[in-house]
Amino acid sequence: MDVDLLGRALRTLPDDDDHPYRSGPWRPQHEEWSVDVLDVVEGALPDDLEGVYLRNTENPVHLPIERYHPFDGDGMVHAVAFRDGRASYRNRFVRTQGFEAEQEAGRSLWAGISESPKVAEAPGGWGARGRMKDASSTDVVVHAGQAVTSFWQCGDLYRLDPLTLDTLGATGWDGWFPDTGVSAHTKVDPATGEMFFFGYGLEAPYLHYGVVDAEDRLVHHTPVPLPGPRLPHDMAFTTDHVILNAFPMYWDEDLLARGRFALAMHDEPSRFAVLPRRGGVDDIRWFEADPTYVLHFTNAWEEGDEVVLEGFHQDTPMPRPDVSDDMWMFRYLALDWMETHLHRWRFDLVTGETKEERLRDEFTEFGIVNPAVAGRSHRYVHAATGKPGWFLFDGLVTHDVAAGTDTHLRLPDGVYCSEVGVAPKAGATDEDDAYLVTLTTDVAQDRSECLVLDAADISAGPVARLRLPQRISSGTHAHWAPASALPGWS
Ligand SMILES: [Fe+2]
Repeated sequence: MDVDLLGRALRTLPDDDDHPYRSGPWRPQHEEWSVDVLDVVEGALPDDLEGVYLRNTENPVHLPIERYHPFDGDGMVHAVAFRDGRASYRNRFVRTQGFEAEQEAGRSLWAGISESPKVAEAPGGWGARGRMKDASSTDVVVHAGQAVTSFWQCGDLYRLDPLTLDTLGATGWDGWFPDTGVSAHTKVDPATGEMFFFGYGLEAPYLHYGVVDAEDRLVHHTPVPLPGPRLPHDMAFTTDHVILNAFPMYWDEDLLARGRFALAMHDEPSRFAVLPRRGGVDDIRWFEADPTYVLHFTNAWEEGDEVVLEGFHQDTPMPRPDVSDDMWMFRYLALDWMETHLHRWRFDLVTGETKEERLRDEFTEFGIVNPAVAGRSHRYVHAATGKPGWFLFDGLVTHDVAAGTDTHLRLPDGVYCSEVGVAPKAGATDEDDAYLVTLTTDVAQDRSECLVLDAADISAGPVARLRLPQRISSGTHAHWAPASALPGWS
């Protein structure tokens, strides 16, 4: 394995750091590597896997001003590029404005999500509640031939070369970008190349939705007025519509009036906005459903008069206070505390009624479908299972939502994986004619691997395991970009 060290961030964290989300599988990585050909340690890489798996991770380099939350860490993207039965690798920090300023200062300048915005030392800042650092660490997609990273509390969209991972800069459309920033979970429709996005904040109308075409031109932007600040995390699209949301878990209004940010569950329904892809305020149809909070949707589609949405319903968005004090501030991270179940909502565009049904009892989340069926009905959801009490994925599950059966892959103790990328095989005709790609963090062996699995049977274990140059930190979202989506590929 020919390994090059590309760079190393200035870090000021203590060597004996024992913060639960800065140690073990969340130990941040500060070196950037390039490997021309990764060693295959088991199995063989298929010849028909062509494209790039990208994963975003949080890697703090400085102690927080007061209190650290794992989503405050600086974004670092990992890329494994597959071609002709071989794989190359790179990892690079996203050179955000905040990262560069804190590298220069040698300390944290902005508040994290668990800190009052008032502690921020630097002026300005980002985020739906203000004065945060835009770490661009939450999500990554490929749109218009470039990797696009984003931040869950809204910020810039940073564009990276999807192969070298060089940061190309923050997105602007003819020099314009929404004042409130854009949330993580921009959605790219592989069929049209369009990217849908939303952004939210503390000022009326509180939510906006937009569309960027395949050439990265802003072609639509509209307010989606809400009664007050809400905290949407994800959205969904069908062939004809997009679906936005306003769940009853959002800032406690009394505390917010005093400049404090604390989540509260309000006595009101979940609300979903269904509107045509290029629809405006007058086109919005609001649907009500049982109270919950949803971090992630798997897919949505049209079915007769209905728009069907699938995602992970939380039974306890505000987890019960029966966990140890030092882990309590991380209570919104563990799948078993939030009790996340695969769930469907059906919005009848004629009657205005909502029907909903639970699909599974098992706690799973971070479900991905084959991109060939994005916006259309699917059969398979490839999701993650969670280590109890932690934001760590201890295995994968394929939900066959047509047959009602599940297939599992349990990882060895102390090994955690990432959200999968679903890579259709060359000439695929069936939805499960695909590979799944994930990266692992193995604490006991102090190493990381890239696993390639057959989507048709993940329980058989990986068809190939590749060794990465260094153990990576756990993180959040990932994306598969086929070679056809990468202009520089050939
Ligand atoms: Fe997310």
